Amino acid sequence: MAREQKAVLACVDGSARALDAVRWAARDAALRKRPLRLIHVGENADCLAAAEDAAAVPGVEIRSGTRTGHPAERLIEESATASVVVLGSHGLGGFPGMLLGSVAGALAAYAHCPVVVVRGAPPEDAPVAAGIDASPGGDAALAFALDEANLRRVPLLAVHTWTDMTMGETWSVLPIDADYGAVAEDERRLLAERLAGWREKYPDVDLRPVVVRDRPVRGLLTAGPDAQLIVVGSRGRADFGGVGLGSTSQALLHHGPCPVAVVR
Ligand SMILES: Nc1ncnc2c1ncn2[C@@H]1O[C@H](COP(=O)(O)OP(=O)(O)OP(=O)(O)O)[C@@H](O)[C@H]1O
Ligand SMILES: [Mg+2]
Repeated sequence: MAREQKAVLACVDGSARALDAVRWAARDAALRKRPLRLIHVGENADCLAAAEDAAAVPGVEIRSGTRTGHPAERLIEESATASVVVLGSHGLGGFPGMLLGSVAGALAAYAHCPVVVVRGAPPEDAPVAAGIDASPGGDAALAFALDEANLRRVPLLAVHTWTDMTMGETWSVLPIDADYGAVAEDERRLLAERLAGWREKYPDVDLRPVVVRDRPVRGLLTAGPDAQLIVVGSRGRADFGGVGLGSTSQALLHHGPCPVAVVR
């Protein structure tokens, strides 16, 4: 199947949060001109009717269905043929104080396509924010963020954070007499170089580089406090070669105020 035809997949468990995810997915499918696939894993097929109502956006073809088995396992399988998979941050289970449901967490770590975990309903004209580091996987996240900003006709904040911890051959701390002004200047130049090619590919996007001296999570949240979507890669530079999620992505999924996209 050509990538262009792959559906946007929204996961439905009968909860109100899942309906938020369905509405986000329906708008995304409309913007991307792709079909919308609604899947429920379990016995409660009735919950798909409410989801279809929530998804009714003119021009979007909806296919819905149920699957049996372990929800996270089935949905990870389904993600292999989706362009993006969208879930609520919570569902019907959980407990007070739980910050992220287990199905949402499993998909964010193991899905075969980009994952959007929906939380809140930020204004549609708010900017998209993307976390940019030097990792090779970062380009996929940046491309996803540019697509979203382009389709939504909103600015993209390309946020690069740095601290006095640097990663050369090994992790090290900048010397005490380091010229922080010069380091900041270097970081700004590196970010500008990183973005240059993308500006040509997406001439219509208002692409705004933001360099902050802070740790990634706090830097991203302070640089784009009112973002409608925060886009991050699944792993940063400290990639130990495994699957799963890096600490920045995990922290944003737990604490982010808005939908978070994890792109691998
Ligand atoms: N059985 C399911 N079928 C389809 N989608 C599901 C299913 N269960 C959860 N989801 C999706 O995952 C999202 C998060 O739900 P999740 O199950 O992770 O959290 P929870 O129910 O609050 O906690 P937990 O199940 O871990 O106790 C839901 O909003 C929905 O999008
Ligand atoms: Mg659940």
